[in-house]
Amino acid sequence: MADEVPEMTPAQKRRGTLLIVDDEDGPRQALRMVFKDDYHLLMAEDGATAIELAQQNDIDVAILDIRMAGMSGIEVLERLKYVKPDIEAIMLTAFETTDTMRQALRLRACDYLNKPFDLAAMRTAVNQAMQRRTLESEINSSAEKVQELLEELQNQRIEEQIAKKRGDIYASIIHDINGPLTVISGFVQVLNQRLNRSAPMEVEDLEFVKHRLNIVTRQTTNCIEISRRYLDILRNKPGQQCAPRVSVSQLLKDLEHLVRVHPSLHDNEFTLTPFGENVGVTVNGTDVIQILQNLAVNAFQCAPTPHHVEISGEVLRAPLDLQAFKDGPNDRLLNVESMQNTAPLVKFRVSDTGPGIPAEVLPKIFQPYFTTKGPREGTGLGLNIVQRLIREGNGALHCHTKPGEGTTFTVYLPGAELAK
Ligand SMILES: Nc1ncnc2c1ncn2[C@@H]1O[C@H](COP(=O)(O)OP(=O)(O)OP(=O)(O)O)[C@@H](O)[C@H]1O
Ligand SMILES: [Mg+2]
Repeated sequence: MADEVPEMTPAQKRRGTLLIVDDEDGPRQALRMVFKDDYHLLMAEDGATAIELAQQNDIDVAILDIRMAGMSGIEVLERLKYVKPDIEAIMLTAFETTDTMRQALRLRACDYLNKPFDLAAMRTAVNQAMQRRTLESEINSSAEKVQELLEELQNQRIEEQIAKKRGDIYASIIHDINGPLTVISGFVQVLNQRLNRSAPMEVEDLEFVKHRLNIVTRQTTNCIEISRRYLDILRNKPGQQCAPRVSVSQLLKDLEHLVRVHPSLHDNEFTLTPFGENVGVTVNGTDVIQILQNLAVNAFQCAPTPHHVEISGEVLRAPLDLQAFKDGPNDRLLNVESMQNTAPLVKFRVSDTGPGIPAEVLPKIFQPYFTTKGPREGTGLGLNIVQRLIREGNGALHCHTKPGEGTTFTVYLPGAELAK
């Protein structure tokens, strides 16, 4: 049976709760007198009451008499530890056998005092046990707080990543549709001039208009494709991974139409050599065009004087020998370790006879916003976009450059045979 104990005040809660279990009234009351001002007390005269109290209260320390009628102190300790594993227990021993003591030890009792107990020793034992409990709960709550903080940080990081991904994608859309939009605006201007002439339209005028309108339509479709593609990524649309097989020769034809009218072409000589055989590429077609167009535009822009730019390629019927690829002062590799290195592979080459890339610039070219061009000439996003599209397509890239001679970007993408 539990002795009458007044309701716990918040201050007492902070001070800790002490359970006193003894079937003799004398020692029980003596302990009550000693600790009543220091702790919230719970009193039990038998094991069953002690367990019940432990189930209903948050007990920090228990003083247990080992020798009790009914349930022994050792049994009570075992059950108390089951209900509340971190409870601290002080055992009151009389003439116990070593076996009993060993059992109490196994059950992680924290102290033993002989009965009749010495008051000062009892105070010290209980105070120390209480301090251990306070420390333990402080450590636990700190660990919980650290965990909460870590989770909060992680959530924030995810949100930041999402925001960054959005930012990157918006920047990519603006970067990639800028070229086609410039072409469109140029051709619309030319069309306007031709249509505003006062002279009646001749057959060749009609042909002229038709041809330019075709280009405008193609470029507009390209803009729509680019923004649709990026918006799909933003919406995390499923099915992005299993891109259809796109014919390489069709891709190169589309690319040629876009590149031939690109404002950066200027007076540069441009050749596009078709593949010796046709094959499929298992990367989104818009992505392949974006990769190659960005590389071609860089090749056009690499020198102010006219130079030669060539796009070519071939089908590889064996996986790449990855040992042969190494970063160096003239070479930079991307995603070689993680690429899908199974035949057939599609290899595109974009080379120029420009000035090459200096060794100190080469390691930086894929960094976002890195540019050696003037403020209105380059944003430094082109190669960063290329890098992302190649990673997403499980491909790889090799940049080989020789200062004074030129640069070749080689792109490897997973291929597939086309249905006959
Ligand atoms: N073919 C090349 N020859 C010489 N340097 C190059 C070549 N391609 C890229 N670079 C260098 O890499 C830098 C980064 O290229 P990137 O395409 O990322 O940005 P950008 O061309 O400067 O600007 P943006 O593409 O945003 O218009 C370029 O500024 C240039 O210094
Ligand atoms: Mg560029």
